Amino acid sequence: MKTTNKFQNIPFNEAQQAWLGGFFAGMHSHILQSAGSGDTTNARSISILYGSQTGNSESVAHDAAQIAKAHGLNPSILSMDEIESETFTSLEYLLIITSTYGEGEMPDNAQMLWESISTDDGIDLANMKYSVLALGDTSYDLFCQAGIDWDQRLEKLGAKRLYDRVDCDVDFDDAAESWITNIIPLMADGATAITIDSSVTGNTAKYGRKNPFPGKLVANRLLTSPDSSKEIRHYEISIAGSELNYEAGDALNVIPVNCPELVADIVQAIACTGDEEEPVNGNIMPLSQALRDYFEIKLPSKELLDEIARRSGDQELNNLLVAGDKDKLAAYLWGRDTLDLLLQFPEMQFSAAEFLALLKPLQHRAYSISSSGKANPETVHLTIGSVRYHSHNRDHKGVCSTYLADLADENTPIRCFFSPNKVFRVPENDDLPMIMVGPGTGIAPFRAFLQEREFRNAKGVNWLFFGDRNAATDFIYQDEIAAMQKSGILSKLDLAFSRDQEEKIYVQDRMREQGAELFALLEQGGYFFVCGDAYRMAKDVDKALHDVIATQGDFSQEQATEYVNQMKKDKRYVRDVY
Ligand SMILES: Cc1cc2nc3c(=O)[nH]c(=O)nc-3n(C[C@H](O)[C@H](O)[C@H](O)COP(=O)(O)OP(=O)(O)OC[C@H]3O[C@@H](n4cnc5c(N)ncnc54)[C@H](O)[C@@H]3O)c2cc1C
Ligand SMILES: NC(=O)c1ccc[n+]([C@@H]2O[C@H](COP(=O)([O-])OP(=O)(O)OC[C@H]3O[C@@H](n4cnc5c(N)ncnc54)[C@H](OP(=O)(O)O)[C@@H]3O)[C@@H](O)[C@H]2O)c1
Ligand SMILES: Cc1cc2nc3c(=O)[nH]c(=O)nc-3n(C[C@H](O)[C@H](O)[C@H](O)COP(=O)(O)O)c2cc1C
Repeated sequence: MKTTNKFQNIPFNEAQQAWLGGFFAGMHSHILQSAGSGDTTNARSISILYGSQTGNSESVAHDAAQIAKAHGLNPSILSMDEIESETFTSLEYLLIITSTYGEGEMPDNAQMLWESISTDDGIDLANMKYSVLALGDTSYDLFCQAGIDWDQRLEKLGAKRLYDRVDCDVDFDDAAESWITNIIPLMADGATAITIDSSVTGNTAKYGRKNPFPGKLVANRLLTSPDSSKEIRHYEISIAGSELNYEAGDALNVIPVNCPELVADIVQAIACTGDEEEPVNGNIMPLSQALRDYFEIKLPSKELLDEIARRSGDQELNNLLVAGDKDKLAAYLWGRDTLDLLLQFPEMQFSAAEFLALLKPLQHRAYSISSSGKANPETVHLTIGSVRYHSHNRDHKGVCSTYLADLADENTPIRCFFSPNKVFRVPENDDLPMIMVGPGTGIAPFRAFLQEREFRNAKGVNWLFFGDRNAATDFIYQDEIAAMQKSGILSKLDLAFSRDQEEKIYVQDRMREQGAELFALLEQGGYFFVCGDAYRMAKDVDKALHDVIATQGDFSQEQATEYVNQMKKDKRYVRDVY
């Protein structure tokens, strides 16, 4: 196998490029099965492994497979939890596409494979040729760490890197496309080229990530009491006319618009007028419009932080940035947004172009859908906590949650697209028990799951663990939940209101109290779902699950971990956490 990049500049012929143009215009088309791209009986087999939490890496894996097929290869796509480590170590041609989760961690479906490959130094991968595509987000400290870990580990075990790892930020399409078009010809080198079937011209879906649907906001109501310490709202977005559909467990991504007052304050803080004409995405527009529609102006980018530190010469900020102490920097930044930083150093003046160059593009926000697509084909329900807090002498608002709460109305096109989540699904078998742990906004997908089970007239046990701060003000969907209990679709409900008594009570305390029954349902093949806060709740719930299994099954901690790992493999323990 040659490792030169002789195909790098012109990896595809003209016909192929034309086809690819159409293909990439509609990435994530998942049309691999229908590609009809020729006889691949003698084609070189390559494995495309993805580690994915919310489906982005999986989508890219399908795109890579499509291109690989078109290039005469025989690709197989596998989730990282679908392959045993023995099979993994025997792979010859491997593409790894993985996101990073938590704090620089592997996504859930990659954890077990990573554990076995990262801890066994006896593995010899001298026969493996590989490349890694890492998906991540530069606003996290450990940017693309999971991909970096895989890349370094495979190299250490003797595998041959055919093409350098590419680390993608949230807008991953272009970088992913470039990686695919470079690595596939290198993987195909020596394989028989095939003719691409010109009938395959890419995605036929009208709307998607690159062409968001303008949804209509048809409901926006407060779920928490007006005197609650928090605000959670219920939204309904009509997708009528889109020809789109969704499943319970999917997420809807909403592309927000920044708050005009925040835009005006920022323009003033950098001593601009807002009328400065600037090129953005090929169009010339006033600075104010650019800031409102195209750039992240709340969370400061690393580049902006560095520049503010450099220009201000502020000792504290510079020390924090130079020392690289992530925890201290995070503590400094907690509650401080871009405007706070600009106001803190009033001498900050930027030209419009300078300032825009330091910002990241405005990103969509993901929301777990709280309705069943079968029961509600034309509307998508969302359950969203409005981010509002006071710090540094100002009221702060989350961009997207308050765009929906305060700015949007029925005349505002809500630009959105779906992210399917193939593993976070109501079990196909209607008789199997579902245990759902979803405090706070984590209840969202479980409202959808219950609607789905009702729609399917499924008879399996449905058990919900829910909680929030105070029962009197934060028991969201209380009436619906009561009705579902009455109808029998919600078999069992356990509540944990954390602030109704001196000692905090959380959902995992209720799990432990009900350990025997919980374990019995798992033994019957029950599914265990978790949704909501990733950083504290999901970790503690995971610990409680292990403890319950160890205690009730009379297992050692190692045996309990094995039990949980098997549940993960069977996709019976799945999480939608953020
Ligand atoms: C797969 C997935 C599913 C999700 N599902 C849901 C859902 O169903 N419901 C839901 O409500 N959210 C959900 N989220 C979270 C959602 O995507 C957004 O992150 C959330 O709405 C906040 O976005 P925002 O634009 O309003 O706030 P942003 O403008 O992004 O601001 C949030 C930032 O504000 C700062 N901040 C927040 N609170 C405070 C505080 N008290 N003090 C100081 N600083 C603070 C923090 O820096 C925080 O990162 C989901 C996320 C993912 C990835
Ligand atoms: N980083 C933070 O400090 C912070 C704080 C709040 C929310 N968030 C973010 O807000 C989103 C979720 O908000 P939400 O309204 O759905 O829920 P939430 O604000 O996280 O709280 C829902 C319930 O979970 C409880 N809780 C807190 N810590 C827990 C733990 N370790 N285990 C189990 N339960 C715990 C809360 O109790 P108490 O609040 O009484 O402890 C509350 O009763 C997530 O994105 C989350 O990351 C972050
Ligand atoms: C809770 C959470 C934690 C994340 N942690 C990281 C991280 O530590 N480093 C990083 O580069 N990206 C991080 N990301 C960003 C994801 O890797 C990125 O959105 C990626 O496109 C997701 O791809 P997937 O859908 O295949 O999982 C995080 C995202 C979420 C929601």
